Amino acid sequence: MSDNTAKLTMGDKSWDLKVRPGSIGPDVVDIASLYAQTGCFTYDPGFTSTASCESAITYIDGDEGTLLYRGYPIEQLAEHGDFLESCYLLLYGELPTKAQKDDFVHRVTYHTMIHEQMSRFFTGFRRDAHPMAIMVGTVGALSAFYHDSTDISDPHQRMVASLRMIAKMPTLAAMAYKYHVGQPFVYPRNDLDYASNFLHMCFAVPCEEYKVNPVLARAMDRIFILHADHEQNASTSTVRLAGSSGANPFACIAAGIACLWGPAHGGANEAALNMLSEIGSVDRIPEYIARAKDKNDPFRLMGFGHRVYKNYDPRARIMQKTTHEVLAELGIRDDPLLDVAMELEKIALNDDYFVEKKLYPNIDFYSGITLRALGFPTTMFTVLFALARTVGWIAQWKEMVEDPSQKIGRPRQLYTGAAQRDYLPISQRR
Ligand code: ACO
Repeated sequence: MSDNTAKLTMGDKSWDLKVRPGSIGPDVVDIASLYAQTGCFTYDPGFTSTASCESAITYIDGDEGTLLYRGYPIEQLAEHGDFLESCYLLLYGELPTKAQKDDFVHRVTYHTMIHEQMSRFFTGFRRDAHPMAIMVGTVGALSAFYHDSTDISDPHQRMVASLRMIAKMPTLAAMAYKYHVGQPFVYPRNDLDYASNFLHMCFAVPCEEYKVNPVLARAMDRIFILHADHEQNASTSTVRLAGSSGANPFACIAAGIACLWGPAHGGANEAALNMLSEIGSVDRIPEYIARAKDKNDPFRLMGFGHRVYKNYDPRARIMQKTTHEVLAELGIRDDPLLDVAMELEKIALNDDYFVEKKLYPNIDFYSGITLRALGFPTTMFTVLFALARTVGWIAQWKEMVEDPSQKIGRPRQLYTGAAQRDYLPISQRR
């Protein structure tokens, strides 16, 4: 490979392919014209070597364990900033000035209510419906209520739709929770910050005053920052693919939520906590480590491993600290699940199987313990992930729509089915 070309040789023919550098991270071999030139497709199931787009939003170095939003390390944003500042950064590319931040916070705050008629949708769901099922339905339904922000060719409508989604997602998530637990909906409050308002909508009841604990609100806000964006993961790629056809942003985000629900993606925090409960005590850890290593057993240690991070997930470190802060604030000194988690992490990090395969704890390993301590049932964990990831999905969707080279996403395939054959009447088939 020369400085800016790669040579592809097949038989006695060869082709030069352009190599494009990123600002940091791996170069890409541009194969956009490969089919036209060679008549061949590339084959990459799971996209392990494929850059599906050009993006300037989030950068991950999985070997170093680095995560940057618009160039800023996640550790600095989580330590010094707040979620709405990260939202502004992801959407607009720069950290806001004081005036920009005040204006943005105001606009988000004043879009938190949802159309009153939407609240009736909730009662159409069974009481025992999973809140993620409710989220997929109600977020998709936003497009039926906000027609004035579904014209994606209008930059103003794109921005209004983006703000609406960031603002209304906590309201919908809290309503899904309230419906799930059989309590009345609590309306948003404009005097509270984003995370405090969300906790208030989830945990306040009409019969008494509920004061939001600022330490817990800060932890909630940090959890939102850590989950805000993560480059071209499965749900983000789903949002981009859905959006590439020109679908409206509310429908695209609903598609992202559906993808996030899977246990290999956003559903892992729920699965990780369930696994810690199933293990139950430190003395049972070796049994589960052995099962995770057994090729004939489908069991995996949930909250371990990541497609991109082959080093400690930087978000997991911050999450671990947040977990300890929340448990200390709530006076939870002996949490058996935390004991199991700490010991499991220690054992796995020293086990050859996990070391060789570079399987480290991911963010989901600790987030479940924190969310449970905050008072959320496991069924809400992925909903909280979806709430936080909405800004990332929206920023990536906007970037795609505003990219002049954007086309509908249309992967090809390696066809392995029957070659052309003739239809037989049913009386002649064997
Ligand atoms: N426990 C035990 N073994 C594992 C685990 C695990 N958690 N994760 C991967 N492995 C093993 C696989 O069995 C495989 O072994 P092999 O090479 O001998 O066949 C090898 O490590 C590579 O695994 P793949 O599944 O090929 O890796 P991939 O990059 O496709 O998967 C994934 C990444 C899906 C996250 C995987 O590690 C996993 O299932 N982890 C558990 C679920 C989880 O925590 N998901 C959260 C992801 S983070 C997020 O969405 C926020």
